[in-house]
Amino acid sequence: MNSILIRNLKSLAGVREADIKMVCGAEMKTLPSIENAFLLIENGLIKSFGKNEDAPERADEIINAEGKFVLPAWCDSHTHIVYAGSRENEFADKINGLTYEEIAARGGGILNSAKRLNETTEEELLDSALQRLEEMKSFGTCAVEIKSGYGLNYEGEMKMLRVIRKLKEKSALTIKATFLGAHAYPLEFKNNHEGYLKLLLEELLPKIVDEGLADFIDVFCEENYFSVEETKRILETGAKFGLRAKVHVNQFNILGAVKVCVEQNALSVDHLELISDEDIFALKAVVGLPTNNFTMCTALPGCSLFLKIPYTPARKIIDAGLPLALATDFNPGSAPSGNMNLVNSLACINMNMTTEEVINASTLNGAYSMGVENELGSITIGKKANLIITKPVSSLTILPYSFGSNLVERVIVNGNF
Ligand code: NIG
Ligand code: FE
Repeated sequence: MNSILIRNLKSLAGVREADIKMVCGAEMKTLPSIENAFLLIENGLIKSFGKNEDAPERADEIINAEGKFVLPAWCDSHTHIVYAGSRENEFADKINGLTYEEIAARGGGILNSAKRLNETTEEELLDSALQRLEEMKSFGTCAVEIKSGYGLNYEGEMKMLRVIRKLKEKSALTIKATFLGAHAYPLEFKNNHEGYLKLLLEELLPKIVDEGLADFIDVFCEENYFSVEETKRILETGAKFGLRAKVHVNQFNILGAVKVCVEQNALSVDHLELISDEDIFALKAVVGLPTNNFTMCTALPGCSLFLKIPYTPARKIIDAGLPLALATDFNPGSAPSGNMNLVNSLACINMNMTTEEVINASTLNGAYSMGVENELGSITIGKKANLIITKPVSSLTILPYSFGSNLVERVIVNGNF
């Protein structure tokens, strides 16, 4: 048995009972906390916590956390961190005035990353993704969802998913894999959508499921990418294979896919830089149902910053009683950063979310939208000891306030530093 006692904490934030799987609407404003607290870790799990005066006297290791806060580590539920090279040339094009869509139309964008990925070995992809995970951990992240979608052919997609499986084995972070073969139509299928859909759904999907390579399925539903009808078909087929969906929707255009995603019981709808009243209405249909049927709204403010597109209207979503998660979208084209602290700052500054709301969105709601809410996302007895210890700070609000700084002093993953 190995025990670690953290004591003299200024505050222990995000304390929840095990039956709270996520927080919606007005509940997001509350972040239950214990002032002057202790927390005991045993064998990598949260064993107990409470007021400092009730702390046990002995443990194998004792950490004095005077003046510091402890909170659940971030759960980043939407990333594309397996990629080759970078796209700073497109960044330069953007500075010179081109839009994301114009860059894509010139052969940049996702197809550019796909070309490079197919020229890169599995080992190189693994090494660079491991480095990204290490950096993300230093910002306080303990769980990461990772998508395929830069292969766009049989071998490339399988290669990406195998790399993600290796990341699961090699990294201490909790990792979930999402099959995003429907990220863009490769050039050879530009005029043969049916051919590509057949490759995805009849050749790749059965093989991927057979080998246990994916936890979820995703589609980039957007003009010039995948239509609402195509999205529906992909989600239906994914469901037949037992994969719940996490879907890219409403990034640049409202096509009406949110309703389809809710009807297909998607786990999350992500981006939502634009959202209609009909979308909100469709999402509200699940409020009141058992929480395992919820579709989480996921905002990706790093993408809004980088592409200079609207920020997801979080107030509209939360004030309608809906749940919201925050994630980085870490990818080479639209959000080249895995910094959840910056994401939280952007959500406060540009989406008018409060400190409590962003912390709930980046911890428990993030955990929910990658299916790990029973083991991560809150300070709950029996959950994994995946924790952030802050530097000595005056309040939690100084975290999002200090945009660009990293006030995370230590990150504990499964009880280890
Ligand atoms: O979430 N929108 C689609 N996919 C990514 C961008 C991927 C890329 O540009 O490489 C996103 O923003
Ligand atoms: Fe994305």
